[in-house]
Amino acid sequence: MGFSIVQDPSLAQLIIYNTCAVREGAQDKVFGNIGELKHIKEQNPDAIIGLCGCMTQQQHVVDKVKRSYPQIDIVFGTHTLSQFPKTLYDFLSKDKRTFNVLQTDGQIDENLPIVRDESFRANLSIMYGCDNFCTYCIVPYVRGRERSRSVTDILNEAKSIIESGCKEITLLGQNVNSYGKGNDENVDFPELLYKINSLDGDFRIRFMTSHPKDAKSELFDAMAQCEKVCAHIHLPVQSGSDRVLKLMNRNYTAQNYLELVEYARKKLPDISLSSDIIVGFPGETEQDFMQTVELIKKVGFDNLFTFIYSKRPGTKAALMEDVVSEKEKSRWFDILLKEQHTVSDKLMERFVGTKQRILIDSMGKTNPECVSGRTEHNAIVDIKGDASMIGQWADVEIEKSLRWALVGNKI
Ligand code: 5AD
Ligand code: SF4
Repeated sequence: MGFSIVQDPSLAQLIIYNTCAVREGAQDKVFGNIGELKHIKEQNPDAIIGLCGCMTQQQHVVDKVKRSYPQIDIVFGTHTLSQFPKTLYDFLSKDKRTFNVLQTDGQIDENLPIVRDESFRANLSIMYGCDNFCTYCIVPYVRGRERSRSVTDILNEAKSIIESGCKEITLLGQNVNSYGKGNDENVDFPELLYKINSLDGDFRIRFMTSHPKDAKSELFDAMAQCEKVCAHIHLPVQSGSDRVLKLMNRNYTAQNYLELVEYARKKLPDISLSSDIIVGFPGETEQDFMQTVELIKKVGFDNLFTFIYSKRPGTKAALMEDVVSEKEKSRWFDILLKEQHTVSDKLMERFVGTKQRILIDSMGKTNPECVSGRTEHNAIVDIKGDASMIGQWADVEIEKSLRWALVGNKI
């Protein structure tokens, strides 16, 4: 549409805010940030400000924007993303605040132009939406029903990314393990992995997110057989208590999860596992929480993302009685973090002395004279180097572990 990126928001003629509704904290931050944009509008009244993404799919957010944020000119939702040019045109031609949010699922809009931030790695959406309705989660309400892209469209996009020099593709979906449901092609996620793996080129494949109820043995068989698929899986467990898992509508038990991990390690002994945990789910007791601590010790996650439960209006859990105090929730959060540090300390040591291939993606995380990359296990490795190395492969020997990162030398 003729726009280009500027670095300073005060110089922008068009500002688009993309948003996330998963937790309240992120949502509050957006309101804070769009509040600030009022000053930009005062200095530059012609600047157009837009808000999009999951937050705008919630009626109460749209109402609040209409009422309290007159600096926002256009609002579009997750199902009207592809109509952005039209929404902008409507605003410009009518000079009237324009809200274009649909509650029904849109089709999958193929062939939208994409500008990627980086040439050496890319995200590739294979499906949209979610049908799982975990009781705490807003995603099914704001992203709509689950729908998968066709194999042909995915493979064509993968090929074009690889041909342009990309070295790492991350396949994205809320629940990639249920890929293909409802499509005519009869290709499930493990089969999709085989197909992408067989494309020519020196690249690797990651994917997220996996749901323990849908990740089956075939997934790990495919991971073990596909040399381009990284030995890492993000497999959110959320809780170690069967009672809480049931309340969350997760459809598996802690034992099911442990069995899955056992199978994964049988097929890929070196696999790295990461997970998400929610602490302070409504009605969670100290005993439930301790089962989560037990589980994370048993599994041994390389990386754990812990979230304090955030009440999302419209979800089932929002109606459940939440009696645990904020103080207790943060105490649990700290305990979990400490336990995980002990686990990570031990696990990261397994890489010391090994040789790894990393894809360098940024300047050093531990030292400005370093560059940083990731192993196939998703572990961060810093090596001596400069910006010209970003986007390249490096074979490295791991010298030491700092728990959250490794330090190595280029071989
Ligand atoms: N509160 C806290 N964490 C949440 N997540 C999703 N919804 C909520 C919520 N209401 C977490 C889950 C999920 C990750 C992406 O965000 O752990 O796996
Ligand atoms: Fe939310 Fe993930 Fe559950 Fe879907 S599977 S409802 S995105 S937590």
